Amino acid sequence: MCGIVGYVGGRPALDVVVEGLARLEYRGYDSAGVAVLADGRLGTAKRAGKLVNLRGALEEDPPPAGTLGMGHTRWATHGAPNDRNAHPHLDCAGSVAVIHNGIIENFAALRGELEEAGHKLGSDTDTEAVAHLLEDELKSGGDLAAAMRRVCGRLEGAFTLVAMHTGDPGLVVGARRNSPLVVGVGDGENFLASDVAAFIAHTRDAIELGQDQIVELRADGVTVTDFEGRPAEVKEYHVDWDVSAAEKGGYDYFMLKEIAEQPRAVADTLLGRIGTDGRLTLDEMRISDRELRDVDKIIIVACGTSYHAGLIAKYAIEHWAGLPCEVELASEFRYRDAILSPTTLVIAISQSGETMDALMAVRHAREQKAKLLGICNVNGSTLPRECDGVLYTHAGPEIAVASTKAFLTQLVAVYLIALYIAQVRGTKWGDEVFAMVQLLERMPEKVEKVLETMEPVRELARSLAGERCVLFLGRHVGFPVALEGALKLKELAYMHAEGFAAGELKHGPIALIEAGLPVVVVVPPRARDVLHDKIVSNIQEIRARGARTIVIAEEGDASVEPYADTLISVPAVPTLLQPLVTTVPLQVFACELATAKGHDVDQPRNLAKSVTVE
Ligand code: F6R
Repeated sequence: MCGIVGYVGGRPALDVVVEGLARLEYRGYDSAGVAVLADGRLGTAKRAGKLVNLRGALEEDPPPAGTLGMGHTRWATHGAPNDRNAHPHLDCAGSVAVIHNGIIENFAALRGELEEAGHKLGSDTDTEAVAHLLEDELKSGGDLAAAMRRVCGRLEGAFTLVAMHTGDPGLVVGARRNSPLVVGVGDGENFLASDVAAFIAHTRDAIELGQDQIVELRADGVTVTDFEGRPAEVKEYHVDWDVSAAEKGGYDYFMLKEIAEQPRAVADTLLGRIGTDGRLTLDEMRISDRELRDVDKIIIVACGTSYHAGLIAKYAIEHWAGLPCEVELASEFRYRDAILSPTTLVIAISQSGETMDALMAVRHAREQKAKLLGICNVNGSTLPRECDGVLYTHAGPEIAVASTKAFLTQLVAVYLIALYIAQVRGTKWGDEVFAMVQLLERMPEKVEKVLETMEPVRELARSLAGERCVLFLGRHVGFPVALEGALKLKELAYMHAEGFAAGELKHGPIALIEAGLPVVVVVPPRARDVLHDKIVSNIQEIRARGARTIVIAEEGDASVEPYADTLISVPAVPTLLQPLVTTVPLQVFACELATAKGHDVDQPRNLAKSVTVE
């Protein structure tokens, strides 16, 4: 959701902060703002809309130069996205500035109390209450960190807060509960941010903050304590990618770059998974083989695109590992009475590792004593810390809001987990697992081949920019691919798009088919003959009713040619692995169609990367 940057050091803080905000804008782009502390005074600027509006305001009226600053990009929760509600927020005296990510649930009560005591609040946000609470706490003694501790004790909900105070011009204070915040450790300068991308141009050394911790950031050091003021244990780590990974590298959009990076991302996620004994090894697993042998049920929880990866995982886990597997939207999971036990393995899939719905699902499963395994792309995020084990995907930073390379690497991760469980439980022989990993290792070249043949897909997408609706059909693992194709089109092109299991068509959705309606059909490999033949019949059924059929099938599949208005061929691969090649044309299709409609595909309306509120 919102993006946060804090800086203290020797450089002009405004430059560092605005550069950091540019790298975090994918997290929220309703409004942006900065505060700089110089000559004992807080200078602020904020504007509704994208960062470019704030940059314009800063050019017209730059705040005084200082070396202590912070900035914010907003995804509005409380209060409309206008200048007044943009962060930072100040106290009555203009001596405390606060930025915030998350939701303060008891803000209405706090606000009432503050107004009664004579505070004047100028915005509709929950955040502003914190600035005024800090003002009161500072009056009653102690420094900004102590005041922040006392204020945090009064807040309910999820928050990352960063504050500065004119009374201590060398200090930035951050606080974290259930919302992301990392520290960047530099030489004579230090950084705070929601994501390492904000400071990666300056340092790759980072500190992971835990829940309910306060960080005091000065140019010459960083102190981390808990909400009671006790020294806290922190985890330092080195970021394994550099600034070039967080830049567009010549592409018009991050999404285009990230689609193109998929062969490398898939290869990186597979790297080093086979040990010297030829067996599959998952280093970060941290769940013992004995515990895995005891598992009798798997439940996968995730949201959005990650949920689609979970749906595909179910087929692989049940087929290879022979274990029952349920897949559930994380936001629904904790509101039903799921039957969990210490022999249930809950797998949470999340690119960001910060999605609040996924974290709450994990906490719910923990209370029921289930084993927890995370699949995550972001080192230092919350999800891995809250799980018993983790499998990192190595997609590198995903900056476009629509997930692409993270999805493909999540698929690789779930295949590896399914094969690992099969190996441990003996449902597949060692040589069978090895052979499947070898097939996986050939997937980067197959994905590359798909990418090389995408021009007709782009052309098709441009020709459909005037359509109002597109349907997607699939069977077996092609069904989640259809759901993913529809989600991409909805979020990027703002078009009505639906994914259906092709077999369900006759139970209702076929009524939607009318002359000229574009319908994308994902056809399974011919080797799955029954599955394949069924979907060929489905294509004929919709074509007979006037649909314009866009068929994705493996190369050489002549049987679909007579019924395909457009045929998109992908390399032949085993059925379970087919989503790795069939998803790519759908990503390209949605990206190109949305671009043809004039949309910014990196920052679709109303959305934000990393959904840190429920
Ligand atoms: C869609 C998309 C979202 C995310 C979802 C979960 O393109 O990106 O649907 O997949 O918000 O996010 P993570 O994986 O970070 O938990």
